[in-house]
Amino acid sequence: MSEAAPVLAAKPPQTNGGVAHRVLIIDDESAIRESLETLLSLEGYHVEMASDGARGLAMLDQANYDVVLLDLALPGQNGIELLPRIHERQPQLPVIMITAYGTVNNVVDAIRAGAQNFVQKPWDNEKLLADIRASIARFRAEEENLQLKRALKQRYNFSNIVGKSDAMRRIFDLVAQVAPSRSTVLIQGESGTGKELIAKALHANSPRKDRPFIPVNMGAQPSELLESNLFGHVKGAFTSAIASKKGLFEVANGGTLFLDEIGTMGLDTQSKLLRVLQDRKFMHLGGTHEVQVDVRIVAATNTDLRQAVREGKFREDLFYRLNVVTLELPPLRARREDIPALATHFLKRFAEENDLPTRVLSPEAMRALMDHDWPGNVRELENAMERGVVLSSGSVIGIDLLPSQLSGRDYTAGLLEHNPDSSLFDILEHIERRIIMDKLEHCHWNQTDAAEQFRIPLSTLNQKIKRLNIEIKKRSKDA
Ligand SMILES: Nc1ncnc2c1ncn2[C@@H]1O[C@H](COP(=O)(O)OP(=O)(O)OP(=O)(O)O)[C@@H](O)[C@H]1O
Ligand SMILES: [Mg+2]
Repeated sequence: MSEAAPVLAAKPPQTNGGVAHRVLIIDDESAIRESLETLLSLEGYHVEMASDGARGLAMLDQANYDVVLLDLALPGQNGIELLPRIHERQPQLPVIMITAYGTVNNVVDAIRAGAQNFVQKPWDNEKLLADIRASIARFRAEEENLQLKRALKQRYNFSNIVGKSDAMRRIFDLVAQVAPSRSTVLIQGESGTGKELIAKALHANSPRKDRPFIPVNMGAQPSELLESNLFGHVKGAFTSAIASKKGLFEVANGGTLFLDEIGTMGLDTQSKLLRVLQDRKFMHLGGTHEVQVDVRIVAATNTDLRQAVREGKFREDLFYRLNVVTLELPPLRARREDIPALATHFLKRFAEENDLPTRVLSPEAMRALMDHDWPGNVRELENAMERGVVLSSGSVIGIDLLPSQLSGRDYTAGLLEHNPDSSLFDILEHIERRIIMDKLEHCHWNQTDAAEQFRIPLSTLNQKIKRLNIEIKKRSKDA
C-alpha cells in the first residue's frame, strides 16, 4: 500500500452482498461518535450510535449488526460488563473495544470478556479500518460455516436409520462428513448391525446419489466367478464366456460399489482389487486394454481385518487402501438405549406393510428386549418384531409372542451349544431342572405351592429337587 493513500478517499463500499455492513458505536463522548461515524460512513458502512450501554443493548435487541465499537469507560455499565450482555444477544458478534485508558489490565480483561480487538484513543484510522474489516470477515466466515452446517444437516437423509445413542450419533456425524467425498469407507461391525444400511446412506447423501449403488457379496461366490463379475470378460476369455460381459466396476461407474464381506476374498482377487483401487483402472478378463472408471468404494466386513492381516489372510496394502475412513458399527447390546426406538420403528413398519393397526409391546416384552443379548443385532430385533406383529391378534404384543430365545422358554438354550453330544436323558434332565426352577421361582420358592401347581405330591417334587441338585433359595414370601 502506498504511504500517500488518503484515508478518507472513496473506497468500494463495505457491503455484504450489496447491503452495507452495519456498525454499532457505543460511546458516551459525542465527539468520538461523530468522528467514527464520519470515518466509517465514508468507507461505505451503515453506522448507528448509542451513547450508553443500555441504549446500545436496546438497539442490539432490535437489529443485527456486523461489528460493535465499544467504549471501555462508559457511564453506568462499563464496556467489560457490557460485553457478555452483547454476546447473549449475538454470540459471535465481533466487538472492538476502544479506550483512552489502555492499561495492560484493561486489555487482558477485555480479551477475557470476549472482545475481538482493542484500539486505543487516539486511534490510527487505517489500523482501525483494517481491524473492522478483519473482524467482519471472520464473523461472516463463521456465520456462513454455521449456515452451511445447518443446511448440510437438513440435506442429509438418515430418515430410515434409527439411533439416539452417542455411538450412533457419532456414526451419523461421520457419515455426513465423509459422504460427499470420494473417499473409500470401510464399515466394520457384527452381522446385522446395519452395515449395508450405512453404505446406502453414504451413497444417498453423496453427489453420486442418482448414479448406481451396486452391492457385491464378495463371500458368496468362487473367486473366478467373482472376478468375472467384478471386472467383466471378453468373449472367449474362458470356456463358458460365450459373449463379452461388463464388469460391476463399469456398471457402477459414476456411482458407488459396495463390496460386502470383503474379509472372505481370496488372495488372488485381493491383488486384482488392489490394482483397481490404486488407479481406478482394470482390464476385462481376457481383455487387452485398460478400462478407466470413476467408482466410489464402500467395503464392509464382520471379521477383524487387522487380525486377518496378521494371519496372512488379508493383504496389508489392500487393508490400508480400504481403511481410509473406518466406521465401526457397535453391536446392539452395546447400545441398548436404541432398542425401544428401533422396536417401535419396526412395529410401525410391519404394521403398515401388513395393513394392520400399530401394535405396542407389553412392559414385560419390552423388558425382555432390553435384557436380551442380541447376537443377531438389529436384524434379530427386526425379525422378532415382524413375528410379533404377524402373530398378534390384539393391540399389545406380550412376551409369549416373542421368539423363544427372548421369552425364556427355550429350555435347552445353551445346552446343545456347549454339549452337542448330550444324550436324550441329559437333555430331558436339563429341561426338567429348568422347568422346576422356573416354577419354584414363580412360587417364591414355596415347594408346597409348586407341587400343587404341578399336581404332584410334595414328596415327589422334593425327590426331584434332590436328584436334580436344585438349590432352594430361601426367600420370604413378601420379598
Ligand atoms: N439403525 C437402524 N435403524 C433401522 N434399521 C436398521 C438399523 N440397523 C439395521 N437395520 C435393519 O436391520 C437389518 C440388517 O441391517 P444390514 O443388512 O444393514 O446389516 P449388516 O450389518 O449388513 O448385516 P450382515 O453382516 O448380516 O450383512 C436391515 O433390514 C436394516 O434395515
Ligand atoms: Mg450386510
